[in-house]
Amino acid sequence: MKFLIITIFPDFVRSVFEFGVLRRAVEAGLISYGVVDPRDFTEDRHRTTDDAPYGGGPGMVMLAEPLYRAISALREEHGAQTPVIYLSPSGMPLSQGLAEELAKLSEVRGRKSEEAKDPALPDCEASTEPDQSSDSTLQTSDIRLPTPALILLCGRYEGIDQRLLDEIGAREVSIGDYVLSGGELAAMVLVDAVARLLPGVLGNEDSSGTESFAGRGDGAKLLDWPHYTRPEIWRGRRVPEVLLSGNHAKILSFRENAALLLTFRRRPELLSAELRQRAESLLDSLQGRDAAEQP
Ligand code: ADE
Repeated sequence: MKFLIITIFPDFVRSVFEFGVLRRAVEAGLISYGVVDPRDFTEDRHRTTDDAPYGGGPGMVMLAEPLYRAISALREEHGAQTPVIYLSPSGMPLSQGLAEELAKLSEVRGRKSEEAKDPALPDCEASTEPDQSSDSTLQTSDIRLPTPALILLCGRYEGIDQRLLDEIGAREVSIGDYVLSGGELAAMVLVDAVARLLPGVLGNEDSSGTESFAGRGDGAKLLDWPHYTRPEIWRGRRVPEVLLSGNHAKILSFRENAALLLTFRRRPELLSAELRQRAESLLDSLQGRDAAEQP
């Protein structure tokens, strides 16, 4: 999966790919990225990317034309259908479901290609053209599809000229009901949430399957259960006894109950009526039990 980010703060965005999971994913060729500065698509001496809003009011609005040119250049290189996501507080909320949907684009449109293994991908220089050799024995499954790409458009100030968003058919996504000073942090949240779902990105393939919001197969989305590590007693606080028992069935049941109760207490709206009922019965059955035994 290739993340193509349009921002007036390219260094800020690049820095996020230099640490942790994202860095390792880039080095392993599982993801790649390109960063484009709309200032490079201006023609005036000041490299202007914004202007005052029509109709008056505070702040500035990003100009349509430099962004249009930046998007057109990216789509020319990476495919005319490359989706554009505009990060904005007015967008549809980013959820685990949306992250999963975006991660699936990589299954539909491409396989891990040789090209994506190039860790040095500088700003959009790597070609994503299909490399269809003249080998007549080529199987359909051998045809190298272009690496799927997502264009992430980061606004600043009051936002972006609406006509640009309409013209390119941008999908608007918000990371929460608060206003950031720009779309960059939101874009990086989206990149992180999507990248870690791609095959191979998390060392342990199980890791993304059991945590908060991961579906449990029955459609339920629960918060994660609590985790413990050494020492067994820390400042007088013991690890729940069952986790030391080695009984995997009991451990799983304890964890599932803990996840259900935590979700019931903190985010009851995530639970179906049936699961809420189950949490209530569980609470009843736990009444009077030793605190150490309670999930
Ligand atoms: N830009 C500013 N605030 C934002 C938010 N909450 N989500 C996405 N993009 C934004």
